[in-house]
Amino acid sequence: MHTPREVWAARPDARLILVLSSERSGSTLLRVMLGGHSRIVAPQELFLLRYPDFDTWRARKSVAMESLLELFDLLGHEQTEEGITSSCRGMPMVDVYKWIFEFLPAAAVLLDKTPAYANDVGTLDRSRGLTPFYVWLVRHPLGVIDSHVRVKERERQRRPLPGRMLRPLRDAIERLTDGLPALARKREAKWVLQNSNVRDFLRQVPAEQQAKVHFEQLVQNPEAVVRELCAAIGFEPEPQMVRPETRQTMNPNLGDPNFHLHGAIDVQPAASWTARYSETQLRPETLALMQELGIQSRRASGARHHAA
Ligand code: A3P
Repeated sequence: MHTPREVWAARPDARLILVLSSERSGSTLLRVMLGGHSRIVAPQELFLLRYPDFDTWRARKSVAMESLLELFDLLGHEQTEEGITSSCRGMPMVDVYKWIFEFLPAAAVLLDKTPAYANDVGTLDRSRGLTPFYVWLVRHPLGVIDSHVRVKERERQRRPLPGRMLRPLRDAIERLTDGLPALARKREAKWVLQNSNVRDFLRQVPAEQQAKVHFEQLVQNPEAVVRELCAAIGFEPEPQMVRPETRQTMNPNLGDPNFHLHGAIDVQPAASWTARYSETQLRPETLALMQELGIQSRRASGARHHAA
């Protein structure tokens, strides 16, 4: 239990919440839910921490300027691309965050959810000086793999026919030789890498500065998850957090391209992968990490979940 003195939000330097996850873990949903809080400002993916300074971010991730402009829009501050660039040119990234914090109302915090932060520990290390609250969002690896493969398949449908025709055959051969199509296997490896990076990094972070959220629990019992998360951060939960605006269209480079297809918080994605995959297809290291992270195995609880 946290005492009021210990909670992160009581710190004078509490200005940033970082949501860390693998892509396709429900991070856009969690961002929109937390952004429903009157003290949390939550634009699309900022990607800032991926880069050591503003100039590199500007050159290498120009699409993310849209998220920064959205942030100022949410804050009700008029800002232009040129204005931001002239203010931040030459700044190390930590100073860019400090510059942004100056625009936040006194009690407000910035929420930055960018799954790519989990790709390497160097990116995570860059956040230390900002004393953020870290929300680690985890999802069953097969939920992530299934979602990723469906997004890629939809992209393939838009490609010319000749390249597309051989794909089902290649998938079947890969499934026979390696238990999973190569695309899914690659995504499994990324899930392991990203979640291992976050685990290793958060081991060095004080307990009162972090919380773990399971995607499956978030969609099955949003009220309880939001209540617990807000208590860990040090905020009072607000009712609109569990009634997110789900019809928003996201820039596919900055969030979930299918987000608007859900009419509300939808429980179905928690287990939809079970129709297409089985945990016996996962590598031993993935199963071991699942267990370490407290992700419920369907092998142990299959009957109960099928009945639900
Ligand atoms: P799929 O729709 O492909 O299953 P991320 O935002 O991290 O990329 O995660 C995307 C996933 O979040 C979606 O992948 C879906 O499973 C889940 N998601 C998005 N909106 C949701 C909603 N309103 N309710 C439940 N799950 C949602």
